[in-house]
Amino acid sequence: MTYRDLEFPKGFLWGSAASSHQTEGGNRNDWREWEKIPGKIRDGEDSEIACDHYNRYEEDFDLAKKFGHQVHRFSIEWSRIEPHMGKWNEREIEHYRKVVQSLIERDIQPMVTLHHFTNPIWFRDMGAWLNSESPGLFGRYTRKIVDALSDYDIIWNTINEPMVVVTMGYLYGEFPPGLNDYAKGLVVAGNLLRAHGHAGTGIREVYESKGLEQPQIAPVLSCSYFMPQDPENPDDVELARYLDDLYNHVWIRGVMTSTIPEPAGDGHRYDLLDDSADFIGINYYSRMVVSSEYDIMTGETPPKNPELERCEGLDWEVYSEGYYHVLKSYWEKYKTPIFLTENGIGTQDDSLRCRYILEHLQQVHRVIQEGADIRGYLVWSLTDNFEWAQGFESHFGLIEVDYETLERIPRESAYLFRDIIRENGPTKEMQSKYLSR
Ligand code: FCB
Repeated sequence: MTYRDLEFPKGFLWGSAASSHQTEGGNRNDWREWEKIPGKIRDGEDSEIACDHYNRYEEDFDLAKKFGHQVHRFSIEWSRIEPHMGKWNEREIEHYRKVVQSLIERDIQPMVTLHHFTNPIWFRDMGAWLNSESPGLFGRYTRKIVDALSDYDIIWNTINEPMVVVTMGYLYGEFPPGLNDYAKGLVVAGNLLRAHGHAGTGIREVYESKGLEQPQIAPVLSCSYFMPQDPENPDDVELARYLDDLYNHVWIRGVMTSTIPEPAGDGHRYDLLDDSADFIGINYYSRMVVSSEYDIMTGETPPKNPELERCEGLDWEVYSEGYYHVLKSYWEKYKTPIFLTENGIGTQDDSLRCRYILEHLQQVHRVIQEGADIRGYLVWSLTDNFEWAQGFESHFGLIEVDYETLERIPRESAYLFRDIIRENGPTKEMQSKYLSR
């Protein structure tokens, strides 16, 4: 196999991503409550300490700096900012000011997510995203925190992976609130769309009222490459097409057209969505093979391909080509800049992580060469962390965390990624070193 240097566009931003609940420790939110229910988290693990990032963010950002990261994506924990409805915790707001400041001091661009799966307990108690007041309440929190951080140069992400919130929480019941109810899932999808609109409008108005230049805003989508199990079977082909639209596109179509589209709504206009996305954040990990003989609505899928490598715990197949197809379709449909807000693999085999990153970057490079406007790439994740229902089983970090001592131990992939950043793309030497087998 011969390789060539893959040069990325000038100004392409490289870095890593994480979220509050998975790293900080000490959170009091709906997820922390969920963890207490026996059987919800593998081996009964919990996020009580997590990576203790709340106290160690400076050490973690020193590592991000050391490994050349230019941007870091993290989330604000809503339950810290608004622990009781309408009551703000100024000390926690100050904490996040310091977090942002410490990135800026290290010359790392902060990308701040306003919602990454977790909710305050009071919000859960009022029905969370099923409640028609939820979008407005999210908008109010957004204004509060954005007002406190608007003097820093921040790229804003509104909601992380709305369709994961819908499917894992309301269809498959593996995340709180643990429901299996498609109709409720649709209500939630609609309210998350409205919430994104409230957040986008809130951010715009805060900056406008202070006479500040408008920041970049984006929602972040979870994307999967849907493939028919049998490409000759029209039912499988149709199912893959249908699910691709339902999972990958309905929600973002709403953002792009300022409507609440079917089946989440009736297609009516929703003005708050206007001008709410400067770019689309895309998280990609794997493909999803579907068959009309399996009931995907109950979580049934055909057996995995034994030839493909998998992500630890989550069992996601490594399928880099899907990245190309997913990115290509987003670019062609929306012609809106894309930022790759998460990509990576949970594994203790770091050579697999190195291969994963390189193979996925090859696909990204391919789409860019074909004209897609892709602005940056973030590895999930900077360090190992609490992987939701999988507990600590999946090791996604460029940097290992020893959960006994909380020591941070950089993996080889951290050095590889540093070199990729230095060269603004994988060189042929890197590819032949890790990919020639
Ligand atoms: C994504 C989530 C992120 C992390 C990765 C592995 O769906 O956004 O929090 O769990 O998967």
